[in-house]
Amino acid sequence: MTTRKPIAILLSLVLTASPLTSFGAEQQPDFNFEELMEGVEFDLNEMQASISLEENASAIDYAHKLEQAFKKMEGFFAGWDYAEDAVLSTQQYQERARRVVELIEGGDYNQAYEVSVEFSDHCKACHDNYKPLPL
Ligand code: HEC
Repeated sequence: MTTRKPIAILLSLVLTASPLTSFGAEQQPDFNFEELMEGVEFDLNEMQASISLEENASAIDYAHKLEQAFKKMEGFFAGWDYAEDAVLSTQQYQERARRVVELIEGGDYNQAYEVSVEFSDHCKACHDNYKPLPL
């Protein structure tokens, strides 16, 4: 009993320490996260403006850029084992971007605009949980 206890303590230390070790190792994105996010903010504004002006080609371009940005973020957060909510959020953003494209192609600019406004409703949840990145 007395000889086992230190081993148990040591083992629990190793077990609690190992997620922290991999935590540090998994952090690094292979892209500039802040730059990507600033691009998201810009592209979202531009997409909304293009939808308002009924400029299909540029609105669709921005929607594609947004989809790609959230795809990158999805890959990044999927590398952490504990960020399922962030992964889901980035997937929903990709779906929203595809929906915007469909609606624009169908000529439904009002609905496309509404979906584009919905983009802004879900930024905060992820920021509250994951911003700033512990890099
Ligand atoms: C799935 C998670 C997630 C979502 C969704 C998300 N962000 Fe971010 N965002 C982050 C993280 C993490 C950072 C901090 C990056 C860092 O620390 O380098 C960040 C940082 C930013 C920044 C950098 C400047 C700052 O305020 O620190 C901007 C701008 C930004 N996000 C805009 C947006 C907008 C606009 C949306 C919604 C349309 C959005 N983000 C949605 C995760 C997310």
